[in-house]
Amino acid sequence: MPTPKSAKRDLNPLLDAARMAMKNAHAPYSNFKVGAALRTSKGEIFSGCNVENASYGVTNCAERTAIFSAVAKLGPSMEIAEIAVVCAQDVPCAPCGACRQVIYEFGPKALVYFQSAKGWKSMKITDLLPEGFRLK
Ligand code: THU
Repeated sequence: MPTPKSAKRDLNPLLDAARMAMKNAHAPYSNFKVGAALRTSKGEIFSGCNVENASYGVTNCAERTAIFSAVAKLGPSMEIAEIAVVCAQDVPCAPCGACRQVIYEFGPKALVYFQSAKGWKSMKITDLLPEGFRLK
């Protein structure tokens, strides 16, 4: 899917990073390769891909790979300003429910870019995940 035209900010570095990461996806079971890249509130970019496993349930989605990589480098105070998701096929690929919860934990104000049935879409994480869970 081509780069969205209506983006307010320059999304290209984020999409480039997500597409690069997608090339490293380990998806032999679903054949559905996904890449994600996030920009922190301080402007650093982190990317990730889906990593599947023969024990299907332990698969890690691209979004969570990117987020966990950012936390590993910057610590848990890092904040997601925006996150983009790309997939190798021209099909909708919004973050799954588990990833929405993880995005919310590290970016309650995050903007999420993804391929929808009607082309590129950007949505606030709080619209994708109303009433996200918090322990306090
Ligand atoms: N997947 C992601 O990486 N991110 C999503 O937002 C949706 C699904 C992966 C998990 C699995 O490896 C493959 O896509 C098919 O479900």
